[in-house]
Amino acid sequence: MFDPFFTTKEVGKGTGIGLAISHKIAEEHGGSLRSIDGAGPGACFQLILKSEASV
Ligand SMILES: Nc1ncnc2c1ncn2[C@@H]1O[C@H](COP(=O)(O)OP(=O)(O)O)[C@@H](O)[C@H]1O
Ligand SMILES: [Mg+2]
Repeated sequence: MFDPFFTTKEVGKGTGIGLAISHKIAEEHGGSLRSIDGAGPGACFQLILKSEASV
């Protein structure tokens, strides 16, 4: 689902670039974005950002 233009939404509804761009932005800043197992309904994502100490 992080692939550019991957979407499960119907034609005209989804662009499939939201997660791809978010993932790229996270990586460009030395971090990461991934989906993880989460409790309950919905989706759970983990965004890791570099701390000042590691720059
Ligand atoms: N919060 C979410 N929960 C479950 N699936 C999601 C979620 N966000 C995105 N997805 C899945 O990843 C695909 C790509 O998402 P995204 O890059 O935001 O593009 P879009 O929203 O235009 O489809 C979605 O079509 C859907 O299948
Ligand atoms: Mg989206």
